[in-house]
Amino acid sequence: MNEYFHYSHNQLHVEQVALDDIAQQFGTPCYVYSRAALTDAYQQFAQAFKSREHLICFAVKANSNLAILNVFARLGAGFDIVSGGELQRVLAAGGAAQKIVFSGVGKSEAEMRLALEVGILCFNVESEPELARLNAVAKSMGKIAPISLRVNPNVDAKTHPYISTGLKQNKFGVAYTEALALYQEAAAMSHLRVTGMDCHIGSQLTDSSPFIAAAEKVLALVDQLAAHGIVLEHLDLGGGLGIRYDAETPPSIAHYAEALLGALQGRTQKLIVEPGRVLVGNAGVLLTRIEYLKNGEEKNFAIVDAAMNDLMRPALYDAYHAILPVQKRDTPVHTFDVVGPICETGDFIGRARAMAVEQGDRLAVMSAGAYGMSMSSNYNTRPRAAEIMVDGSAIFEVRARENVSQLFAAEKLLA
Ligand code: LLP
Repeated sequence: MNEYFHYSHNQLHVEQVALDDIAQQFGTPCYVYSRAALTDAYQQFAQAFKSREHLICFAVKANSNLAILNVFARLGAGFDIVSGGELQRVLAAGGAAQKIVFSGVGKSEAEMRLALEVGILCFNVESEPELARLNAVAKSMGKIAPISLRVNPNVDAKTHPYISTGLKQNKFGVAYTEALALYQEAAAMSHLRVTGMDCHIGSQLTDSSPFIAAAEKVLALVDQLAAHGIVLEHLDLGGGLGIRYDAETPPSIAHYAEALLGALQGRTQKLIVEPGRVLVGNAGVLLTRIEYLKNGEEKNFAIVDAAMNDLMRPALYDAYHAILPVQKRDTPVHTFDVVGPICETGDFIGRARAMAVEQGDRLAVMSAGAYGMSMSSNYNTRPRAAEIMVDGSAIFEVRARENVSQLFAAEKLLA
């Protein structure tokens, strides 16, 4: 919990609003975000890096709601995108094309064309065939594409294997040993302009040392390029800083920045970072209601109205999210598995949680602002949750709950 989510008179609040009031007004499940928490996290970043020229590119995949993107755009953020869809979201939210970096291993021609049309800051290119395709697309449009190569530094991020990206065996980036040759190839292509170098080693890192190890490898390569006459304007060191879900002790934003700035000492390139989780993770909760309390033979279950389609992280990564009662009770505490209505055993939100609750109570699944709504689905034909943003005592519905007819509107019966 942080200062933006707190109990007052035994009622869990976000900023100045009781979560129960939001549930009554908008129903459950719903995501609730704190604008102040978003702003605070962003400003901590901006403050921590202010001693050098930098651009904070929010990783849109962490949470792509337009209102969230708009909050960051107003604060001056850039954006890290991985699809044409995310590009259109950023523009719709008022983000500047000139502050967008485009990552991802599978960019299509159409996505490249769109990004070239609007004039993004940089393509983070992840393979040799992607270089060739981008050069051809840019040529056909009479444009020059600004590029970085995403270099795979072969550094162990020491995080969950599904979200570790900087090892040789991962699909991401170009091999460290081939990067120099590929940079030379890129520099010789008529419609590319080499502007930077990029690297991202993984997500939810709770230690600074892999970031430093990766930065050092990147810098060694920057020096090799310079010796070959290729001079870079920016270094993009990716995202990945972890947050506290449970008992993790990730470095603070300030310490993380200090470590990166230390590694970059004496370098003049502009620094780009691509934080996702750390800007939004602890700025949002998933609000849900207990439909039933069920005593099984071995376990007690709290069956809630949110499920793995709303928050996939526990099912996919065995991720831990704290679960707090919206209203504190003095009644006895029991241990429950908190599960959703979906027909899969993997449909759990949390296991073995000690809680004093009754049927009908509401729960807040904490630290759900990152990779919650953005990874949600319609599995079991469940409409996706509403999203609410609180700003002081003001409440904004920033995404209406889906309805079932929307879910099959594009489907057709046979003739
Ligand atoms: N840049 C690139 C190129 C990335 O692939 C990612 C995340 C980021 C930046 C932002 O990383 P962050 O600062 O959020 O750690 N769904 C998973 C996380 C997947 C991360 C994918 N890439 C989860 O729920 O934990």
